[in-house]
Amino acid sequence: MAHVELSSLSKTFGVFQALTDINLQVEKGEFCALLGPSGCGKSTLLRLIAGLEDVTSGSIRIAERDVTDLEPSDRRIAMVFQSYALYPHMTVAENIAFSLEAAGQKKAVRLARAAEVAKTLRLDTLLDRRPAMLSGGQRQRVAIGRALVREPEVFLFDEPLSNLDAMLRVQMRVELSSLHHDLAATMIYVTHDQIEAMTMADRIVVMDQGRIQQIGAPLDLYNQPANKFVATFIGSPSMNLLAATVAEGTDDRISLTIGAAGHFVLRPRHPAASLRDQPVDLGIRPEHARIVDPSSPDAVLPGKVRLVERLGNQTLVHLDTASGPFVLQGPGDLAAKNGDLTGLAFDATRAHIFGADGQAL
Ligand SMILES: Nc1ncnc2c1ncn2[C@@H]1O[C@H](COP(=O)(O)OP(=O)(O)O)[C@@H](O)[C@H]1O
Ligand SMILES: [Mg+2]
Repeated sequence: MAHVELSSLSKTFGVFQALTDINLQVEKGEFCALLGPSGCGKSTLLRLIAGLEDVTSGSIRIAERDVTDLEPSDRRIAMVFQSYALYPHMTVAENIAFSLEAAGQKKAVRLARAAEVAKTLRLDTLLDRRPAMLSGGQRQRVAIGRALVREPEVFLFDEPLSNLDAMLRVQMRVELSSLHHDLAATMIYVTHDQIEAMTMADRIVVMDQGRIQQIGAPLDLYNQPANKFVATFIGSPSMNLLAATVAEGTDDRISLTIGAAGHFVLRPRHPAASLRDQPVDLGIRPEHARIVDPSSPDAVLPGKVRLVERLGNQTLVHLDTASGPFVLQGPGDLAAKNGDLTGLAFDATRAHIFGADGQAL
């Protein structure tokens, strides 16, 4: 049985439906990221798990106990917030031990337990320091230590890195990943940042408008997005979408017309015989397109270069096509300049097709 089980969870605020039919199973020791745009319901879902909000319907089980109607303090969860909220006048040891005092433990027991936790978190040489004398990464570890000392079944994080500058964020991603590895703790981590989710999570739950759009390992979501939302939300720059029409479909071949002159043939994931004449979107990631001579037989579409961004290790080329703007990613030394008239070729094995309902075909 999964360590955390959410069954048919829904949440309404008045007439507003914030979450609809959420089903999710998180395994023991898993790092599970809840990813989606601002307002999609991530924090609400985390707050339901924590017991800070009541569910409207559905149930929550943690470590084989139904906790749906339990108080937050009885759920054996620990929430780590965005602001670490350490007590500035207390030492690292006192900060970590604090919740044990509230739980009525003796001082010697508290400090021994805090020292043990500090060791796991590589804070054992810093026990007498106050938070002001710690780096951002060390403060985060103290905040986690404070949660860890309570031996929770699940750690809940709500965008813990979003206040940090870019450099520290990268550092903290590495910290959190190795912590997760060392502790083998079950973590549910809310973020709107796909890079955080992609780099840290074992599995990502992509949410939009209060619904789960897809659940999967980072690369599975990247390589096989279930719908247009997931396809364009994961990956940066975003997947290009080109409006197309199905000229011909069979079980293993689909031929598309793009605009007035574009033609492209690829293998659909599902039999496509019934799709003839249907409008679809062709999805091409920037790294799965290349610039070719406009007269080359590989050229699917003509394009005109509008902007070239040189990032050193890669080049992003922004093009205008008859079917709209297109972004292509190539090597750092890619030959391209503003105003170039080029052809665009696509890797047919990496292309995606989405039906009129937005679902992958
Ligand atoms: N207490 C509340 N009362 C009314 N609406 C709320 C409340 N909490 C959240 N919402 C609404 O629910 C939606 C999801 O919010 P939230 O879970 O905070 O999103 P996220 O964390 O993904 O940005 C938003 O539209 C938000 O305005
Ligand atoms: Mg939020």
